[in-house]
Amino acid sequence: MGEVDPAFIQDPEHRPKLCFSEAEGIPMIDLSPSREKEKDPSALDRLVKEIGSACKEWGFFQVINHGVPLDHRHKVEAAAREFFGESKEEKNKVRRDAVKVLGYYDTEHTKNVRDWKEVFDFSVEEPTLVPASLDPHNQDVTHWHNQWPHYPPYLREVCQEYAKDMVKLALELMELIALSLGLPQKRFHEFFKDQTSFIRLNHYPPCPSPHLALGVGRHKDSGVLTILAQDDVGGLEVKRKSDGEWVRVRPTPNAYIINVGDMIQVWSNEAYESVEHRVMVNSEKERFSIPFFLNPSHYTMVEPLEELVNENNPAKYKPYNWGKFLVTRKRSNFMKLDVENIQI
Ligand code: SIN
Ligand code: FE2
Repeated sequence: MGEVDPAFIQDPEHRPKLCFSEAEGIPMIDLSPSREKEKDPSALDRLVKEIGSACKEWGFFQVINHGVPLDHRHKVEAAAREFFGESKEEKNKVRRDAVKVLGYYDTEHTKNVRDWKEVFDFSVEEPTLVPASLDPHNQDVTHWHNQWPHYPPYLREVCQEYAKDMVKLALELMELIALSLGLPQKRFHEFFKDQTSFIRLNHYPPCPSPHLALGVGRHKDSGVLTILAQDDVGGLEVKRKSDGEWVRVRPTPNAYIINVGDMIQVWSNEAYESVEHRVMVNSEKERFSIPFFLNPSHYTMVEPLEELVNENNPAKYKPYNWGKFLVTRKRSNFMKLDVENIQI
């Protein structure tokens, strides 16, 4: 037995290999052609193709020249470090409750095994509307509220500033993804009015048994798209589609890691698939990361887009309501549900 509580111990087949492969990593994409004022159509075309093949072959890629101001990111990273450095008692003052209030949490489980991490969540639109009830006939809507810690006092402001940067980048990426699927550039925009997107500050403390536990167990993201800032420690691993090997995502300073979530898989009728990933911890260094989860409004019915479905390529999923999906997951203590449940 290791030195960690048994709740954290992965089954043998899911334990990480401490000697990992960095051989063929996820693609690195330069977003500058989409940001230039006078757009060069052929450069934009190449970028769209790159995004399309990265989504298809990996479901994951990194971006540089993404336009997010570096000082905004650094301020949030500094605030996260300070917040997690506070006492448990202080952090628990903003503890998340299962349904209505986001905040601090340190008992997340992925596939029934506890994750070696602590998190602080906040939603980007506040209050965020979510259905009050799981009853399909009850359309009452409730709100998620953010809680902000007293320490550090500037955390709230820098997080809200950064949230705007993330929404902007996410919509730009969704435009490129739309083009790569042969759709109008703004095809996805309608889904993001009253969006339920949120940001998570992650802290992975050093772990005495990194060969037994994981920072986050293997999972796919259930939202639309994730934009992740990771620090220079490393630990994120992606399951490579071509051979099922776990590959480490090498930290690249100031780059963002983008991954396709389950909703793009459904909207695109599996042209693009969301891909399993997990987080390794280590015994020496703590690690910080900041994912932004792009999610639509709670009333969105998610189903394969009609433009991408035809006789030869019938819909692979039944429509489902995102808000209900979200609330079910929160009520079940954030256990992950899988889109497999709604596969036809
Ligand atoms: C996650 O996938 O939930 C977190 C990713 C990371 O911290 O690298
Ligand atoms: Fe994830």
